[in-house]
Amino acid sequence: MYIILFLTVLIFLPIGGNAKDIIFFQDDKLTKSFDVEQFKKLAALQKITVLEPHENKTLTYQAISVRSVMTELDSNWKNYEDIQFLCMDGYKPSYAISKFIEEEAYFAFEIEGRSEFVIYDRFKQGQKTKLGPTYLIWAADNPEISASGWAYQIVGIEFISFQNKYAEIIPDNNVSKSVADGFSEFRNRCLPCHSLKGLGGGVGPELHSPVSVTKYIKPSYLKQWILNPASIRENTKMPRIFDNSKHDEAVVESIITYLQWLQ
Ligand code: HEC
Repeated sequence: MYIILFLTVLIFLPIGGNAKDIIFFQDDKLTKSFDVEQFKKLAALQKITVLEPHENKTLTYQAISVRSVMTELDSNWKNYEDIQFLCMDGYKPSYAISKFIEEEAYFAFEIEGRSEFVIYDRFKQGQKTKLGPTYLIWAADNPEISASGWAYQIVGIEFISFQNKYAEIIPDNNVSKSVADGFSEFRNRCLPCHSLKGLGGGVGPELHSPVSVTKYIKPSYLKQWILNPASIRENTKMPRIFDNSKHDEAVVESIITYLQWLQ
């Protein structure tokens, strides 16, 4: 596992000036790579005007359709189950392919009226955030796809079967509803940043191996941390993900139940 992780890291290290900006994997194999200019040419450049969730402001992007890009990458893309993006900072969100059939999404490269390809992220005190090489944007105002679904600094695209790739951490069918719900919440809210058993994103630390967080953090503190990390560590780099809505506590409890089940 660690060898694979190490190799993955090596692939992402820029090598001189020849490194490709965006690489494409199929079933764990690197099959294509592009610099931004080549990637842009995979589909027709369009002007897309949408509400930017990180700024809560309507912006116009130069972008290409994700569906068209996927068709160029592999004409049978609809037969895959999931797509996973790799971002420069280790963020690794995954989505069911069906999401891209239901909703129109785009890879963006430029914002009209801005000389730099950046946003001012209201979830990070308005911090200026670079978006290139490319930024995943969504056309519909779908509350299910919150700002966390707008992945920036995408450097890798991968067609996967989530069921196969993440088999080691997916609960089987006979677990309690709370474990099953907890996993589904963990997948959406935590897995893009954290790994379990080496599987998942690399923005935050591994949470399971070799010792699970549920073994050394008391459940009450773990719950407090997940709800509001800064209430435990003043200068923590983990953002606050929950915003005090009424189901938050139940969601966090199910996540902890899932982590205890896995421990
Ligand atoms: C945007 C990325 C991001 C997301 C999303 C995120 N975390 Fe974190 N998490 C971090 C970072 C970064 C740290 C390290 C914090 C630090 O060192 O101050 C961290 C630390 C932690 C820790 C402490 C680990 C330890 O050993 O001290 C726990 C537990 C944790 N996160 C759980 C979660 C859970 C559960 C979720 C989902 C509800 C989640 N995180 C979502 C980035 C994230």
